[in-house]
Amino acid sequence: MPVKSIQEQLAAIDQGRVLRFLDVLPESGRGKLTAQLAGLDLEAMRDLIDTQVRVKAPAALPRQIDPVKAYPREPGAEHRQLYHDAELRGRELLQKGKVGAFLVAGGQGTRLGYEGPKGEYPVTPIRNKPLFQVFAEQLLAHSRDAGRPIAWYLMTSDVNDAATRAFFVKHDYFGYDPAHLFFFPQGMMPAFSMSGEMLLAEKDSLALSPDGHGGSLRALDKSGALADMKKRGIEHLSYFQVDNPLVHCIDPLFLGLHDLTGSEMSSKTIPKANALEKVGNFVFADGAVQVIEYSDLPESFALQTNADGSLRYNAGSIAIHALRVSFIERLNQGGRLKLPWHRAEKKVPYVDDTGTLVKPEKPNAVKLEQFVFDAIPLAKNAIVYTTDRAEEFSPVKNAEGVDSPATCRRDQIRRAASWLRGAGIEVPVKQGEPDAVLEIAPSFATSAVQLGIRQLPEIVKSGETIYLG
Ligand code: UD1
Repeated sequence: MPVKSIQEQLAAIDQGRVLRFLDVLPESGRGKLTAQLAGLDLEAMRDLIDTQVRVKAPAALPRQIDPVKAYPREPGAEHRQLYHDAELRGRELLQKGKVGAFLVAGGQGTRLGYEGPKGEYPVTPIRNKPLFQVFAEQLLAHSRDAGRPIAWYLMTSDVNDAATRAFFVKHDYFGYDPAHLFFFPQGMMPAFSMSGEMLLAEKDSLALSPDGHGGSLRALDKSGALADMKKRGIEHLSYFQVDNPLVHCIDPLFLGLHDLTGSEMSSKTIPKANALEKVGNFVFADGAVQVIEYSDLPESFALQTNADGSLRYNAGSIAIHALRVSFIERLNQGGRLKLPWHRAEKKVPYVDDTGTLVKPEKPNAVKLEQFVFDAIPLAKNAIVYTTDRAEEFSPVKNAEGVDSPATCRRDQIRRAASWLRGAGIEVPVKQGEPDAVLEIAPSFATSAVQLGIRQLPEIVKSGETIYLG
């Protein structure tokens, strides 16, 4: 886009000052800044600044909030046939190539304190496989079982795109055929001063950060990933996030339920570890299934209990979804993704009027992000399906304490022990934990049921290290 036209657009939304160093910039710097600006939806920016940046409104809660009705993990009599059919349907979808895998990995991973892309982080108990490898091996195993490759869409962001691609190249794509692996970066959003001015990180660069995992739904469209899916005949995406190696990247039963119920966006839930656990809450509110983020659900709701003492709002979100491709297309109709923005106040270094870099000591800026789960209330027939924490959720989010590499390693060993016990193999116990270091490669088994048909060691001895691969 020519500089002149960007100048005009910026003037129209009172953001002309962001070009204040333009005259002193070399050609390359001008090009960089204008390219960043051209990548933004400047037209929508004014409204966004007026309603989301300058105004600090608390998140609007729905008028009527009730617990969500979720499909149970184990079907009762009324669901038995449906679950049976769903499992078959899910397998059929995979055999016909109608399912793609979708990993969002554009985030910054600041809490973990790891510099590179989070997917590089080594997580498995014995082989120290990085998160990306765990997912690649799972998807390869499911491709093998389906008898055809599963296309894998992997969203990065400008923060980690080059490093992520280089990591895959270095590891020979972990055996994945690059023809079925589609990398694409998500969009970026500028940080704003509290008064609504776009901040500069350098004279020639906006203070940009990824636009939230909700931005993935726009990036799928803009990057050509949706077009690629259409070409391949893919109808559903299995969505997961980069921090949870226990995820079943592909789950035939879940995908089948999603398809047979006509759901446009389906989600997995687990009972919360405690009332205030830092996970989103599935609720049924104002006539639709929704997620209310832990930070937005007032304690007066979070702490409510049923007559038997159980939590009234107990459906935690583990950020695993199935989405119809046609739904994502609909959300992007008109060229603008129909999702709300969420506001967060952060410390963002910026260049002041004299060109000096300022490192603020308290929050000075507003960042805006979109969340993928805000698409759920817009979906037809959205369903929620219950799974087990021990089976499917142990994210690596913090360097220490809850949701850390240590708890994740422990939970991988616990799950491996539980799968082995399910197959009739005894696993010794010490102080309540498996007394062995266990790792099951996805190529060996992607589920307890599959493990049951493999050749297994007869016993696990105390203190033993066993890699099944
Ligand atoms: C998130 C959910 C929370 C859920 C929990 C489960 C939000 C706001 N909350 O919390 O409801 O219970 O996961 O683990 O998401 N990402 C991008 N681009 C971005 C931002 C994030 O790709 O712009 C990706 C990250 O790479 C990561 C995932 O989204 O894969 C999660 O992001 P994060 O910000 O860590 O969410 P949480 O606060 O952990």
